[in-house]
Amino acid sequence: MPVLSTATLPDTALIAAGEARDLPPGGRKLVFAPGGESILLLNVEGEFYALENSCPHAGASMASGSCEAHVLRCPAHGLQFNIKNGQCTASPGLLIPMYETLILDGKLWLRPPFKA
Ligand code: FES
Repeated sequence: MPVLSTATLPDTALIAAGEARDLPPGGRKLVFAPGGESILLLNVEGEFYALENSCPHAGASMASGSCEAHVLRCPAHGLQFNIKNGQCTASPGLLIPMYETLILDGKLWLRPPFKA
């Protein structure tokens, strides 16, 4: 996860996600993009991961899914996703779009995935 220097100002596409210290290892929270999109932000073993809060199978919220060893389980039907790349462990064609996580002066920022 990149840590930005104070000389590197966030670009306008970045989404503010609060203070990094407020989300300890094992923590998670929802962040809402200016357009209203829901993003699930997790701290797993000190690393931050952010993904679209919508399962690509049928659109369920992933927010209450269990997470073990970087694998997040969809609470609706049980599909599991690697939170490092968003890929479904059973069906590699199913992907959850990931947001890049950045830290600037202790604050978390999320960069949306590129959409063509
Ligand atoms: S909606 Fe997530 S597995 Fe079906």
